[in-house]
Amino acid sequence: MRALDIKHSLQHLPLFADLEVAELEQLAQLCRNRAVTKGNVIFYEDDPGTSCYIIVSGKVKIVVNADDGREHILGVLQDGDFFGEMSLIDGQPRSASAIAVEDVQMVTIQRDQFMELLRANPDLTLKLLVTLSHRLRAADRNVESLAFLSAPGRVARLLLELGKDHGERTPEGLTFTHNMTRQELASLAGTSRETLTRVLMDYQDRGIIHLDKNRLTLKNEAKLKEMMV
Ligand code: CMP
Repeated sequence: MRALDIKHSLQHLPLFADLEVAELEQLAQLCRNRAVTKGNVIFYEDDPGTSCYIIVSGKVKIVVNADDGREHILGVLQDGDFFGEMSLIDGQPRSASAIAVEDVQMVTIQRDQFMELLRANPDLTLKLLVTLSHRLRAADRNVESLAFLSAPGRVARLLLELGKDHGERTPEGLTFTHNMTRQELASLAGTSRETLTRVLMDYQDRGIIHLDKNRLTLKNEAKLKEMMV
């Protein structure tokens, strides 16, 4: 993509919505495009952080790995989201790995330019802080559910959150499609793949949800909320 196309991408990103045209043009000159195909690693946990990434299209999972290779997903980010800012802000290595869940198109910005951008644009810095607060709230909720909820409760919470973020109201209920594996869903719920599958089957048998490959319908949200005790 040429600089002109980068500007086009940037102006559709909520993070940059308040920038003037001239500022966007300037920013587009500083940014680079990066495309990563599905399944590939964008960076690893503990790598030195040199740039920040903004997703133009596709999904990226943020993961930490145990010594035995087990993976825990901290979050799944999509178009309009940014990541890789933490290392740039605090100078520490990457706090987690980033992996493309789908083919991903991103715009990247180097540390010096990123810091300059924040210094020059208080509104943009505030937007970044709002996003970081949302992430911290989500991380706190995760700790809370790992500490206090049973596996069925954690799965119910995950389903309700996915429904809230990606669901569409249909006569059958709140429906969404996802492109995550069972292992990835289990990791997001903080449980094993076997337990996740067992809980999903149980919910399906009880008419609480309907599963059709990657399409999930929440037929009884009230019941799912009840499970979160
Ligand atoms: P950084 O530490 O540079 O590299 C890993 C990135 O993952 C981090 O910056 C954040 O952008 C992102 N990240 C870390 N924790 C979370 C989380 N809980 N939810 C979403 N994104 C996160």
